[in-house]
Amino acid sequence: MKRFPLSAAALLASAALMANPYQSQEEELASVIETGKKASQQLIQNLGGNLKREMEAGGPVAAAKFCSEHAFPLTHEVGAAIAPNVSVKRISLKERNPANAPERREKAVLQSLQTLKENNVVLPEYLVEQVDADTYKFYKPLSINKPVCLKCHGDIGGNAALVGYIEKLYPGDKAIGYQMNDLRGAIVVTVKK
Ligand code: HEC
Repeated sequence: MKRFPLSAAALLASAALMANPYQSQEEELASVIETGKKASQQLIQNLGGNLKREMEAGGPVAAAKFCSEHAFPLTHEVGAAIAPNVSVKRISLKERNPANAPERREKAVLQSLQTLKENNVVLPEYLVEQVDADTYKFYKPLSINKPVCLKCHGDIGGNAALVGYIEKLYPGDKAIGYQMNDLRGAIVVTVKK
């Protein structure tokens, strides 16, 4: 029996085996992006709608109270409602709530986005990080994109009641002094296999 045809067959077989995982990884990435977009859009709509309603009904202090009591749990609920393997959070390099401080690698991603922004690069709609074989992180950059954001993240010194409320609740608050179009942070959607 000749050996050559056999090894050629073996090569073909292994090439076929390698083709499949490659295709499924592409599909996996597409599904992460779909989930990330869905979760970040839901969160933005949910928080934005509530913020608008509270601002109209009771002004910045009432709206800040809403954010401090509900933004964090609502963020987590959005992930849990999509699937058990999906989690959602908000992060910032200048966080108000210490629970929104980025982890080491998340911080590196935010710093890269900040550097791009400072160099007048238009930020991408999203980024995807493959954390390990089983985990992806979808990042949606968040900017100060509406004047209303400045009421609580800009120069808030003029509103003594708001300053008092924020200082009491967040003694280490770093999330002030922003201007329009500044990078505020990101939504991170973590998807595990
Ligand atoms: C009425 C006050 C108020 C307004 C208006 C407001 N925020 Fe906030 N923001 C807060 C409070 C309070 C927190 C802390 C919430 C928490 O505990 O998670 C916060 C937290 C955040 C965070 C999470 C990171 C961190 O610093 O803890 C991001 C991102 C953020 N805000 C972005 C925005 C953007 C973008 C806008 C405009 C669309 C906006 N905010 C408008 C009060 C406000």
